[in-house]
Amino acid sequence: MKLAVFASGSGSNFQAIAEAIQKGQLEAEIGLLFCDKKTAYVLQRAAALQIPAVTFSPKDFPSKVQYEQEILRLLEENEIELVVLAGYMRIIGATLLARFANRMINIHPSLLPAFPGIHGIQDAFEAGVAETGVTIHYVDAGVDTGPIIAQEKINITTEDTLATLTEKIHTIEHRLYPTVLQKLITTQKERAIDDEKKSLN
Ligand code: GRF
Repeated sequence: MKLAVFASGSGSNFQAIAEAIQKGQLEAEIGLLFCDKKTAYVLQRAAALQIPAVTFSPKDFPSKVQYEQEILRLLEENEIELVVLAGYMRIIGATLLARFANRMINIHPSLLPAFPGIHGIQDAFEAGVAETGVTIHYVDAGVDTGPIIAQEKINITTEDTLATLTEKIHTIEHRLYPTVLQKLITTQKERAIDDEKKSLN
């Protein structure tokens, strides 16, 4: 399966997905890294991994629609089948959603619907809840809404600081994202085989 990863920052999840592919744990190819911040560290990771990367921001276009039309053109040109958001700090607009509905997923560092938004780990920590976690979900027009695909919980202990909790969450993310992606790919393959069988009957 040909993936595009969208990221805006460090890109540790992008790296984890790329490494899972290299190790043969994930039957996919990253056809494109799209980054909306020209100075983001993820671009250095892409260069080191020799993964094609493109960067531009909405400011480079007269409107968000035109910005997303250019992204869409790139996705189509590269025959991208699934878009994987990994720390992409923008709300997806109608232009991209219309073409990639059900083919765009996101990872969020909390147990959604609890603690959506950009400070998911910190918000859970400061709320003093006993557990938090990681959610992978399909993308819709909301902020961290959309049907949930998988969640993994983690207890917040009395010894935890925001830093230790952040590290634990990221460790889960780096394992869970490639695993869930592989499950989606396997399910899609099985469906294709079933459809093929049905068409022969
Ligand atoms: C991750 O915690 C992810 O859940 C959130 O943004 C962060 C991205 O981290 N959406 P990285 O850029 O993959 O290191």
